[in-house]
Amino acid sequence: MASMEQVLDKQFKSYLEKETIQTEVERIANAINTDYADKNPLFIAILNGSFMFASDLFKLIHVPAEICFIKLASYRGTQSTGQVITAIGLDRDLFERDVIIIEDIVDTGKTLTAFLPQLQHQQPRSLRICSLLHKKAATVHPIQIDYLGFEIPDLFVVGYGLDYNGFGRNLNKIMQLAD
Ligand code: IMP
Repeated sequence: MASMEQVLDKQFKSYLEKETIQTEVERIANAINTDYADKNPLFIAILNGSFMFASDLFKLIHVPAEICFIKLASYRGTQSTGQVITAIGLDRDLFERDVIIIEDIVDTGKTLTAFLPQLQHQQPRSLRICSLLHKKAATVHPIQIDYLGFEIPDLFVVGYGLDYNGFGRNLNKIMQLAD
């Protein structure tokens, strides 16, 4: 693949190569296989961005595991409830399950901070976060990421499932906005 890609009106340059990503995905899968050796985790992949990461990761999970895919819809609640996030497609009972959330990227942490209490409410036995990318410098709401691929600077990235206005998800590596 060319090292520069045009996505809509913007140019992107290579940031993380396909092989680099795959090596990290394998490392994370190995860690999960070890940590959940005697468990049956339920993975919850957050669409759209995590679909490629979730697919590559899940193929390398060797413990008996389930996966479901959800979409988060965000809307403004009342002043007291603030931003409300609802999960579309969460059709599993999380009670006493070992749940692993799969995210593409944690940026400000706002989405997960608003969503995690709803999952906790169902009383899973454990709840861990697995994210391919984390923009630590952009943190507004700190999130504990239990399995992390890459800590990245506050860059805008596309590819490997991540989009720029809906496009660029099909790139097989991660690319950053070229200045
Ligand atoms: P947060 O709520 O600020 O942590 O945002 C998380 C969501 O924002 C991610 O799941 C992505 O969908 C999106 N996002 C954040 N940064 C980027 C980026 O650099 N490229 C593409 N999507 C991003």
